[in-house]
Amino acid sequence: MTTLITNIKELLQVENMPKKMVCGEGMKILPTIKNAYLLIEDAFIKDFGEMKNLPNQTANIVIDATNKIVLPTWCDSHTHIVYAGDREQEFVDRINGLSYEEIATNGGGILNSAKKLQNISEEELYKQSAIRIEEVMKLGTGAVEIKSGYGLTKDAELKMLRVIKKLNNNYPITIKATFLGAHALPTEFKNNRKGYLDIVINEILPIVAKENLAEFIDVFCETGYFSVEDTERLLEAAQKFGLIPKIHVNQFTAIGGVQAGVKFKALSVDHLEEMRDEDIEALKGTITMPVALPSCSYFLSIPYTPARKIIDAGLPLALATDYNPGSTPSGNMNFVVSTACIKMKMTPEEAINAATINGAYAMGLEKTHGSICKGKKANLIITKKIPSYAFIPYSFGNPKIAQVFIEGKEV
Ligand code: NIG
Ligand code: FE
Repeated sequence: MTTLITNIKELLQVENMPKKMVCGEGMKILPTIKNAYLLIEDAFIKDFGEMKNLPNQTANIVIDATNKIVLPTWCDSHTHIVYAGDREQEFVDRINGLSYEEIATNGGGILNSAKKLQNISEEELYKQSAIRIEEVMKLGTGAVEIKSGYGLTKDAELKMLRVIKKLNNNYPITIKATFLGAHALPTEFKNNRKGYLDIVINEILPIVAKENLAEFIDVFCETGYFSVEDTERLLEAAQKFGLIPKIHVNQFTAIGGVQAGVKFKALSVDHLEEMRDEDIEALKGTITMPVALPSCSYFLSIPYTPARKIIDAGLPLALATDYNPGSTPSGNMNFVVSTACIKMKMTPEEAINAATINGAYAMGLEKTHGSICKGKKANLIITKKIPSYAFIPYSFGNPKIAQVFIEGKEV
């Protein structure tokens, strides 16, 4: 099965040799080909180049992309898409003056979602989550990481992870699973953090590893949640099972979570709304990708991750949605890319790099996703007719997507 896309106004993020990620000054470079073609064979990119070099080629399907731009699908490296019910009442409470922290202290927040999730069946949880997966695929996302962390009991955490696995089996989008048992303290353990961590480490983690339910380990390293000491204890235990850290740090307070991540060779450290100079320093020369979640800053009215400081220090940066019922009820990567440009002063080139190749790296998918490269997955966005690629972030709130292809098939 072959699909040939011709007369592409501009083909973005092309590469001949797959790179791991881009950082610093390199993020300003977005390699493109103007007036291009692209050939898909089955699930993969077979060939691409300038129209003038188009080989005499027949294909099962031919798409004329005159005045349209083609780019790789978004790689969303941080989400909590599997959840039960919603929390729009907390949203209204915040409008009326309560803070996110006050809501959480009153039993709302993550604990509210956990109660809902513990009480629904695996089938119902799958159904609710599948709707969100279909929604983000239509918005141009071709790979996504999903965390547990709204279970907070052995059964409910495993239920979440099984749903993630089933979604991965049933949809063409690539899904990576993360075990986030240490997301919040269940009420019964309110004064016994060690007791809850014992359960996460000794009872849940071994099953997660044995049943291959997650590749990554996460923890909410934050004042009032889990300390740096707790984080290191968990990461050390997870390391023995081969789980790679991708952790929540520096969302509300900077307490040394970045350093803990770096120490345990985290693939990514995520949120980073509060960054001290020493946190930026700690990331230099490491394999750890900083990940910003601008939709979360937007929704909670908290500071944006200092993208300029991070990139200008020579570091890479990835962008993700954080799609979850409390702090970011949106999985729209187009909005993330726009918001990164508008509020974080990233250039369109930087934002597109951050949402494609760097997002792929932050999920360990850079060999197969995140760019237009022969042999990589045929995961593509074909835009509507637009004047230039800057129009992608410019048209905020109004995604200019005409078609999405995942593994060579139109969504
Ligand atoms: O990434 N920060 C921790 N966890 C989620 C939100 C949790 C919630 O409010 O449900 C986040 O923002
Ligand atoms: Fe999150």
